Amino acid sequence: MNTFPQLHPAMNAVIIGASGAIGQAFTQRLLANPQINRLFCFSRSFCGQLIQQQSSGSKQTSGEIDLESEASIDRMGQQLKGVPLDLVIIASGLLHDGDLQPEKSLRNLKAIQMQRLLQVNTIAPALIAQQLLPNMRKGQASIFAVLSARVGSISDNHAGGWYSYRVSKAALNMLLKTLSIETQRRLPKAIVTGLHPGTVDSALSHPFQRNVPRGNLFTPEQSADYLLGIIGSLTPEQSGRVFAWDGTEVPP
Ligand SMILES: NC(=O)c1ccc[n+]([C@@H]2O[C@H](COP(=O)([O-])OP(=O)(O)OC[C@H]3O[C@@H](n4cnc5c(N)ncnc54)[C@H](OP(=O)(O)O)[C@@H]3O)[C@@H](O)[C@H]2O)c1
Repeated sequence: MNTFPQLHPAMNAVIIGASGAIGQAFTQRLLANPQINRLFCFSRSFCGQLIQQQSSGSKQTSGEIDLESEASIDRMGQQLKGVPLDLVIIASGLLHDGDLQPEKSLRNLKAIQMQRLLQVNTIAPALIAQQLLPNMRKGQASIFAVLSARVGSISDNHAGGWYSYRVSKAALNMLLKTLSIETQRRLPKAIVTGLHPGTVDSALSHPFQRNVPRGNLFTPEQSADYLLGIIGSLTPEQSGRVFAWDGTEVPP
């Protein structure tokens, strides 16, 4: 069981993208964690108003979010207005969707594709930060973590391709660095971080798993455990950086 020694002993957490493979694994793990007081789970597939889970005494509350709608992100912020938060994890992301597939070459690039990936992977996390960072508990440590990807590293780009996804994750990493600087002024104990989950068995990675060496494809639960371990060890001095599942820093 992961612990978060730097966070409040009765912590409130938010997961955005709670329907995804890694998002579900985070939800499961956090719900089972006695340090969690309230867990707010948002996903495109959870409908309408905030819904307290049926079973009495449940810590989970679910709500809907569409990351391609600014109004929907604002609504999520309104629903959580005044709730003190200790941990926000954005576990959503987009790589492919029907005809929208990662570009093998410049010839495949389409503006609409790059716009959608930037909206979901970069702009939505920025708008979520705008809504939720004001809720982070003052005078205490808090963590705002977003799932990024190693392919967002500029210096580690040896293979090329996947223009829109790479650009969206590189821009996300810059967003997080910039956010960390502003956040540090108001909330010196807050930590803003990007996380690379490894290659994880999910709908997002499914079409690209063929060349992944045996043993290198994590289950979502394995990856969530690694990442929650990292979250529990982060210090404010590490804010603004991106860390991989094994604790190593992903270079900018
Ligand atoms: N899997 C990997 O190997 C891998 C590797 C590196 C980085 N990552 C990153 O890890 C994160 C999670 O990936 P995953 O593997 O768990 O993928 P996944 O199972 O496909 O989950 C993606 C999540 O994003 C949500 N989402 C996408 N577009 C949305 C929108 N417009 N509005 C609201 N929600 C939206 C999905 O919601 P719906 O359920 O409603 O579609 C789902 O909850 C992503 O940021 C990904 O880039 C994954």
